[in-house]
Formats: sequence, C-alpha cells, structure tokens
Amino acid sequence: MKKSIVMLGAPGVGKGTQAKLLAEKFNIPHISTGDMLRTAVKEGTELGLKAKEIMERGELVPDHIMNGIVKERLSKDDCKNGYILDGYPRTIAQAEFLDTVDKINYVIYIDVPEELIIKRLVLRRTCPNCGAMYHLEYNPPKNDNICDKCGTPLIQRDDDKEDVVKRRLAVYNEKTASLLDYYRNRGILKKIDGNRPINEVLQSIVQVIGG
Ligand code: AP5
Repeated sequence: MKKSIVMLGAPGVGKGTQAKLLAEKFNIPHISTGDMLRTAVKEGTELGLKAKEIMERGELVPDHIMNGIVKERLSKDDCKNGYILDGYPRTIAQAEFLDTVDKINYVIYIDVPEELIIKRLVLRRTCPNCGAMYHLEYNPPKNDNICDKCGTPLIQRDDDKEDVVKRRLAVYNEKTASLLDYYRNRGILKKIDGNRPINEVLQSIVQVIGG
C-alpha cells in the first residue's frame, strides 16, 4: 500500500529526526516544508525573501503559498509510492487543501511535554551543508560543532533562540493543535510517545505503519 504519511506535533518533538529515518527505511521522500523554505531563504529566491522575516518571528507563511509548494512537490514522480510530509499541514485550511490533492493514510502525532521542547530546540544544531541534525546533549556530534557526515561547521537555526521558540509553540497551540481532532475524527491519527530514545520512537512508528 502507498505510504502517504503526515508527521504532526509541536516544534522540536522530533518530526524531522523520525521523518529522515522513515524515509530511508521505506525509500520514500522526506518532504519538509521548513527545509524547503530555508533553502529558498539561502538562495534568496522570491519565496525566500517573503519567508525569511516571517520565519525569524516564528509565525506561519501564508497558506496559499505553502499549498502551492506542496502540491507541486507531491506531483513529482518520486512521490508515486508514498512520501513523508514534515511540517505540513499546519492549519485546518492546509489540511483541507491537502485532502483535495491526495489521500493521507497515516498521521503520526509525536507527543512530548512542552517543558522538554525548549531544551531540545535551544540545544539543536544543524549542518547547513547536508542537513544532518544533532543535539548537544542527546545526540552530539563526535567532534565539537562539526558535522559527522560531511565535516561542515554546525549552526544554530535563527528560530531556535529561546524567545522565538516560545512564539513558535504559541503559534502551534493557536493554529496547528486543532489538526489533532481533524485527523482523529478521520480515524488516521496515531499518537506516539516522543519522550524516549530516538530508536525506540522509530520502532513504535514502524509498528504502527507496518514494516
Ligand atoms: P519547521 O522547520 O517545520 O519547524 P518545526 O515544525 O517548528 O519543527 P522543528 O524542525 O523545529 O522540530 P522537529 O519536530 O522536526 O524536531 P527535530 O527532529 O529537529 O518550520 C520552521 C518554520 O517554517 C515555521 O516556524 C514557519 O515559519 C515555516 N513553515 C514551515 N512549514 C510551514 C507551513 N506548512 N505553513 C506555514 N509556515 C510553515 O528535533 C529537535 C531536536 O531534538 C534535535 O536537536 C534532535 O536531535 C533532538 N531529538 C529528536 N528526537 C529526540 C529524542 N527522541 N530524544 C532526544 N532528543 C531528540
């Protein structure tokens, strides 16, 4: 069966970490709208210029922009056998739009207590070259601040500063949390305890999806 999967949960619960592992395991693309926007910002495209300041404030990029980007990405050949959406949908309007594009089979909701999330994000480091992700305490690089995979110096995302993280959490509660009921009512929401080691979380998700 086609695996069309949505990763849902507050900022920092581990959506990207798990999506990368699942994409490798099932050989389907990991589609992160946050990564797409960050690439656009880096390349200085028209989209990037619009998104930069919105992201730095921890607010959401307008629905019509996100819907267009995702629709185009899902129409690509590599999505034929499935995909993992990470960071989209984020509003009811986005979820309703997605319903018109494709049928989602699984919505994986990763749950982590809010008080742990701030620590996860403030200590997150990412590789600006290959996208690998680390946590200075839970998943540190072998050499201080250098990517294990490609040797590039790691960076802290601009929106991982504590005040922006707090705003992102507030935006999640205002605009995204209502998607839990949206998908629960459709019977496709699977809740996963994300406050466990990365591999244990992965095993639980794989069990739900069916290896
Ligand atoms: P986006 O990039 O999607 O950010 P996010 O949803 O806030 O999620 P994060 O990437 O911060 O966290 P995550 O859950 O992926 O956690 P991770 O695996 O990294 O969006 C950024 C911005 O773009 C938005 O604010 C918005 O402006 C815009 N945007 C994007 N999509 C949009 C949309 N659809 N509509 C409108 N605007 C949009 O893990 C976090 C840390 O914890 C890491 O250091 C990791 O190593 C560590 N960790 C992971 N798992 C564990 C574990 N089990 N135990 C211990 N540590 C762990």
